[in-house]
Amino acid sequence: MLGPVVHVVGARPNFVKAAPVVAALIAEGRPQSVVHTGQHYDERMSHVFFRELGLPRPDVDLGVGSGSHAQQTAALLTALEKELPARAPALVVAYGDVNSTLAAALVAAKLGLPVAHVEAGLRSFDMAMPEEVNRRVTDQLADLLFVTSPEAIGHLANEGVDPDRVHFVGNPMIDTLMKHLPRFDARAVRTAHGLPERYAVVTLHRPANVDTPASAATAVRALREAAGQVELAIPLHPRGRAALEAAGLSDVAGVRILDPLGYVEFMGLLRGAAAVITDSGGVQEETTVLGVPCLTLRPNTERPVTVTHGTNRLVSAETLGPALRQALDDGTAARTAEGPPLWDGRSGARIARVITRWLERHG
Ligand code: UD1
Ligand code: UDP
Repeated sequence: MLGPVVHVVGARPNFVKAAPVVAALIAEGRPQSVVHTGQHYDERMSHVFFRELGLPRPDVDLGVGSGSHAQQTAALLTALEKELPARAPALVVAYGDVNSTLAAALVAAKLGLPVAHVEAGLRSFDMAMPEEVNRRVTDQLADLLFVTSPEAIGHLANEGVDPDRVHFVGNPMIDTLMKHLPRFDARAVRTAHGLPERYAVVTLHRPANVDTPASAATAVRALREAAGQVELAIPLHPRGRAALEAAGLSDVAGVRILDPLGYVEFMGLLRGAAAVITDSGGVQEETTVLGVPCLTLRPNTERPVTVTHGTNRLVSAETLGPALRQALDDGTAARTAEGPPLWDGRSGARIARVITRWLERHG
């Protein structure tokens, strides 16, 4: 009998992407298991997503935790090398671009297990980002590559990936958004946190923005200017909390610092926002679909479709202030009538269909 499809997840964005794929494979009656690496482990960075998104409880949590890149990746490799063969997977599925993604692909490839990569082919062309390293290596190792937007197909072709392995399926993170949209209650979130009617949401966690005292000070300077224009609600990722607070974020007037939020509450906050300032990958996509103006505090993006669509704009600490003023003056984000192609809530089903056919041929 064919072994299970084994989903390897570990960090917050993985959970949001895996949920529709797991659900669609359940609908196809495919045996599967969920391996949580434990890269993220706080209640608000991990468990809440399983409860809210209807993801099956992980069959195992490897408890890998935090560390330097080498320490964390080594722990992931060691733990997965033990765990994956014990499950005799027909296919390993890895998501996104985090260290757990890279480790799952590397271990599977070395063990001769087939591996699928969901959200393949995104490129920032910025090798200073750990995610870009993870994406490139994972894509070289994957047998099945599921892409969310058409330009990814070209990136993979340029890197010599066999086009027969590549499947354009749309964006499973947007499946999750569409499924839960009726639960995103902006007014309830605003009331719960005592926010005014008009507010902006900020999420920052990229090493380039929060890891050093100098970068945190630059970010706080930019946010101080932004908070002069509109109240800022900032659900703080644990990575940058200490550095941003040391740089004085809590003392900035008009800033509301929050703990990381569960998915439904976070998306309610996003839905009601006048604008969003972020360095998150997922948030650039979610604001695209919600039609909320997004200012991305980064020099590049691996998600250019969010910019061409009209909702997202790259900004620096210097250009954030004027860009925010413009976004607030314009009201809703100027966007093209059609959403990005295949961001239609059916990506999980497409992925499940491709996987099922592939298993029939290779099982
Ligand atoms: C990781 C991903 C990043 C992704 C982000 C999503 C890598 C290299 N980076 O970054 O691509 O955008 O997740 O949120 O995989 N911490 C906690 N509690 C937790 C998890 C982390 O306090 O549950 C703190 C620890 O101090 C830890 C730090 O956050 O050292 C960073 O965690 P880590 O998983 O290494 O990277 P992220 O910055 O979360
Ligand atoms: N998110 C959440 N609560 C928060 C911040 C984010 O539920 O406080 C969700 C949101 O759906 C976002 C996803 O987690 O798209 C991943 O966010 P993150 O910015 O951590 O990761 P990235 O997409 O940058 O890898």
